[in-house]
Amino acid sequence: MKYKEPSSDYRSGLDPSRLPKHVAIIMDGNGRWARQRSLERIEGHRRGVEVVEDIVAACRRADIPYLTLYAFSTENWQRPQSEVQGIMSLLAAFLAKKQEELKENGIRLRTIGETHMLPESVLMALENALEHTRSGTDMTLTLALSYGGRAEIAGAARRIAGDVAVGKVAADVIDEAFFSRYLYTHDMPDPDLMIRTSGEMRISNFLLWQLAYTELYITDTLWPDFGEDEFLEIIRDFQSRERRFGGV
Ligand code: FPP
Repeated sequence: MKYKEPSSDYRSGLDPSRLPKHVAIIMDGNGRWARQRSLERIEGHRRGVEVVEDIVAACRRADIPYLTLYAFSTENWQRPQSEVQGIMSLLAAFLAKKQEELKENGIRLRTIGETHMLPESVLMALENALEHTRSGTDMTLTLALSYGGRAEIAGAARRIAGDVAVGKVAADVIDEAFFSRYLYTHDMPDPDLMIRTSGEMRISNFLLWQLAYTELYITDTLWPDFGEDEFLEIIRDFQSRERRFGGV
């Protein structure tokens, strides 16, 4: 299904010249949403996937070229096995179901994180979807899977140290820009805006390096209740902010 073209009506209130290039989202609150309804936690995640579908479409329609979603953290492996398996099945189903639609809408899929930790069924669905969508040039959808910010930074340091040890890199060339090249996100702009749902005032090991100057927006809405209207409202709020990057 091709997403509706952005119309002037749709974008009313958004300034096309000041759109964020990259929005990152911590999708939190699925468990609480389920508990409030006396449902199993997995039902919250199931509803959460539907919201993922809506926000991907909203982002594309708004012409925001990068969307990064924190779908599974390195810490999330510690959840009960049944919940982890449930999330993994939802993920595999999402990838299989959506790869054609992503391609049709010019969306390229990417992942960041220790994806080798994922079960075989998800890895296969992932490889298919990555391959299927690789020609997409209008938007990049990045799923953070088995992702941890500190692990990413430690991994970069380890690989740089290896390159220094074999004489490929001279230690004195290591500055911020050089370091960034060893991160998963080496070919993406840093997020301009990071949204977290369900009210928690934490970064939770998400994109620690990349969020240095990112505008933050925390909403009390639980992820399964989040949607396009609130997403656009947050983009409008972002556009009203003055970003100084440490200057005056
Ligand atoms: C946070 O809610 C959510 C997660 C840890 C998993 C998010 C996963 C999905 C939405 C499904 C798969 C994703 C994609 C991209 C298809 P929580 O369980 O921490 O909620 P709580 O804090 O209320 O317990």
